[in-house]
Amino acid sequence: MSGPALLTVEKLEVVYHRTITAVQGISLSVRKGQIVAILGTNGAGKSTTLRAISGFLGIDDARVTDGSITFNDKRIENRQPNEITRLGIALVPEREKVFPNLTVVENLAAPFAPSRYNRRDSENLAYQFFPRLAELRSRTAGLLSGGERQMLALASALVCRPELLLVDELSLGLAPVVVQDLMARLVQIRHELGTTIVIVEQSAAVALSIADYGYVLENGRVVLDGEGARLRAHGDIQEFYLGQSSGSKRRSYRSVKQYRRSRRWYG
Ligand SMILES: Nc1ncnc2c1ncn2[C@@H]1O[C@H](COP(=O)(O)OP(=O)(O)OP(=O)(O)O)[C@@H](O)[C@H]1O
Ligand SMILES: [Mg+2]
Repeated sequence: MSGPALLTVEKLEVVYHRTITAVQGISLSVRKGQIVAILGTNGAGKSTTLRAISGFLGIDDARVTDGSITFNDKRIENRQPNEITRLGIALVPEREKVFPNLTVVENLAAPFAPSRYNRRDSENLAYQFFPRLAELRSRTAGLLSGGERQMLALASALVCRPELLLVDELSLGLAPVVVQDLMARLVQIRHELGTTIVIVEQSAAVALSIADYGYVLENGRVVLDGEGARLRAHGDIQEFYLGQSSGSKRRSYRSVKQYRRSRRWYG
């Protein structure tokens, strides 16, 4: 299912406005054909990590200040986003995923797409995975439902024919059945196009339903990583992220760990 390393992030450090260190020494590895999940609560550094990989840091006045990002044996940290897209990485961003004033079909034509594919090819690729978009092709994107908008965002990234697809928070605010359908599409995209996928999610249950491997971030650091199935079964993940806790209050991952340790020692 998975081959050699496609993406390697080593000891990555990202700083906003020259002062705020959002990512502090993250290392992760994504092999060809894998679906990898990046999990963590608000402010953990998930989106920043995806922005750094895709090059979309400048608009937020951020920079990679240490460490490296290697994609297909090329160093890509601090390169321009269009250059990184051309190398085969596409980002479905956290915010402003579609152009709200353009129609569905105009959105599909808007991204940088390799010139050997024409507009028709791009549309066909989008409708292969999201047939609903064909029915909505003349609709203004701003009027789409939440789920339809996410479909369009994914489709707009797909028409760039990425080797690596980065997806930030697809599930937020959507009904579980819609989320399930979107996750199934990601699996289908991987299966039919061989695309390697990194998904960022606050919901561990959603991400780990399809991920081969996962990383849990907290305060800009990796605090836990492992095979998807192992993380699903991991007591700390169940307790903290899957809401199967015996405790009442949501605590940090670290404090859950300390709590479990203390129970082991004293309980
Ligand atoms: N544009 C920005 N300017 C300054 N600081 C920022 C900016 N974007 C993010 N940060 C800070 O960087 C840290 C990591 O944020 P990031 O958005 O990467 O977290 P996240 O894990 O994606 O969180 P969420 O689940 O809420 O989306 C936070 O402390 C955040 O306040
Ligand atoms: Mg985020």
